Amino acid sequence: MVYSVTSLKGGIGKTTIAQNLAVCFAHDGKKVCLIDTDSEIQSTADWGKDRGSELLPIQVVSVTQEDIVEQVLTLKKAFDIVVIDGAPALFELSSRAILLSDVVIIPVLPSIEEVRAIERFMVRFNQSKMMKENLGGSVKSAVAMNKYNDALRIDREVKRVLEKYGLPLLGSKLSYRVAYREAKIEGKGVIEYLDKKAKDEMLSLFQEIKNISLT
Ligand SMILES: Nc1ncnc2c1ncn2[C@@H]1O[C@H](COP(=O)(O)OP(=O)(O)OP(=O)(O)O)[C@@H](O)[C@H]1O
Ligand SMILES: [Mg+2]
Repeated sequence: MVYSVTSLKGGIGKTTIAQNLAVCFAHDGKKVCLIDTDSEIQSTADWGKDRGSELLPIQVVSVTQEDIVEQVLTLKKAFDIVVIDGAPALFELSSRAILLSDVVIIPVLPSIEEVRAIERFMVRFNQSKMMKENLGGSVKSAVAMNKYNDALRIDREVKRVLEKYGLPLLGSKLSYRVAYREAKIEGKGVIEYLDKKAKDEMLSLFQEIKNISLT
């Protein structure tokens, strides 16, 4: 199974969700490969280096726009799960990531700019989906709200707008928690860290994401 976490926008939690998803799959007993597509910043490659040998292993591989197709097709044979940490702005790279994926997770922050960006992203996603279906394949998508605060009216409003658009919104949401920033310093996911609330919400998101692929 290949999952990618991608979007048009930068700084919305793609890397955080990709790393945490990879960690959840590793704890679920799967052999996991996490792919860094951001050859400039390399934050997932660095996270992989910081991940201690006492933790469950996750193979981190860096790819470029030129070799992503070949690499993913090879890696998906050797691993149970491949998680692609997407890079924004790079049109070709994200289109290829979508074509290579079984499930695409689209993080969104609760702001109106995000909602507009996601509308544009879905146009691109649907084009790739049609291409894939035409070739006999399939790809599913799910929108994950990040840094969400249900106590804020604007956040609930954005959620309602996303629902109204009929986007495949996941019920589990991630709140703003410092644990997401701290855990990654040690190459960990939040389920390997101290904050129980972060752990519970991530496991709940993981469960939902796992269920998508089964249906
Ligand atoms: N739920 C959260 N709570 C607190 N901090 C978060 C949360 N999600 C992400 N962050 C932090 O927000 C910042 C941006 O997140 P991240 O790097 O995952 O986004 P990105 O979409 O991968 O960014 P880029 O487009 O630059 O690759 C990081 O510092 C990250 O630790
Ligand atoms: Mg990133």
